[in-house]
Amino acid sequence: MSRLIYLDHAATTPLHPRVLDAMMPYLTSAYGNPSTTYALGRDAASAVQRARRTVAGVLGCRPTEVVFTGGGTESINTAIKGVAFAQRKARAGDHIVTSTIEHHAVLHACEYLERFGFDVSHVPVDRYGLVDPADIAQAITARTALVSIMTANNEIGTIQPIAAIAAAVAERARALRTRIPFHTDAVQAPNSISLRLPEQGVDLLSLAAHKFRGPKGMGVLYLRRGVPFLAQQNGGGQERQRRAGTENVAGIVGTAEALRLTQEHVDADRARTAALAARLRSGILSSIPGSALNGHPEQRLANNVSVSFEGADAQDLIRDLDAEGIACSAGSACGGTSVEPSHVLLAIGLPLDRAVSTLRFSLGHETTAEEIDRVLEVLPAVVERSRAAKLVTAP
Ligand SMILES: Cc1ncc(COP(=O)(O)O)c(C=O)c1O
Repeated sequence: MSRLIYLDHAATTPLHPRVLDAMMPYLTSAYGNPSTTYALGRDAASAVQRARRTVAGVLGCRPTEVVFTGGGTESINTAIKGVAFAQRKARAGDHIVTSTIEHHAVLHACEYLERFGFDVSHVPVDRYGLVDPADIAQAITARTALVSIMTANNEIGTIQPIAAIAAAVAERARALRTRIPFHTDAVQAPNSISLRLPEQGVDLLSLAAHKFRGPKGMGVLYLRRGVPFLAQQNGGGQERQRRAGTENVAGIVGTAEALRLTQEHVDADRARTAALAARLRSGILSSIPGSALNGHPEQRLANNVSVSFEGADAQDLIRDLDAEGIACSAGSACGGTSVEPSHVLLAIGLPLDRAVSTLRFSLGHETTAEEIDRVLEVLPAVVERSRAAKLVTAP
């Protein structure tokens, strides 16, 4: 059987072989608990500290500002709930500003806080999925405790003007004489964007290691020194009281190595991936009538090609591409027998039928031009088949 053509790197990525090598000792012989004081434990603790310094070096922050977590979702929940509850405790506010196109990790964490009496404003985006910094500034009130806007969207790939949003938040906070921490979900960013915190001006940033060739179930939370924060995991004193629980030493080592490798090569990788994505994008748009790109034409993740196919059904397309050995995602989440249209696609103004006809191709480090050409070869017939089937079953 020929090799799988994997075009779903926004969902997850394969582990980098050097990341596995780096992790291996801590999955086997170096199994100590970093909180113990004999040599085996001290070795594990040193590995965690080295990893922390590596992550801090890549991001441009202090090692003490790096918190290792159990994934992107956990980093986001920790950031949003940790700041929100601390701010309320300090009577600094109970209002959160976010956008309509955030990942469910952000939206559902905010929904949870609404049950505790917080108010949440969802700032709308334009038809490309862009947030306007002026709209963020306008949504901020004297009661605003936190702003959370994603760096790049996982479905349509649009990259937000994060530094401009951070500046707008800071300016508004100064005018209101309050402090408003700014969090960004940067889970989709590391393969395409150089993440230098001093240039971005954010106070908290969340990452998930498996999106950049690291292990699953591992995350990073950058928590700027002095940001109001209440720990959401309570237990032992690990991670300086900010995330209790015995450290996943192998996972932490793998996360740091993956982030280092990814960010070291980010410019070259972005250029290479963008060229392949352009080939896929123009190939689709020129050969399949009724296809349209979603997201911003330029300000987008290098590896994301989100396209709607008028009159087709994304679930048919995924099934038939899978049969051809091609893996990609829909712009909608399948729950049981119903297909929920994506909140992101609806938020950028797509009509329902276009939302449920959307595919997301996300390219990766190992994607080749031959693979892209193979997709371009099979896709027109796959789309045609789905369109014909929908016409037959239409009421
Ligand atoms: C933008 C974004 N945020 C958060 C997450 C959650 O990450 P994880 O499922 O690894 O916890 C994802 C995962 O798809 C994502 O794409």
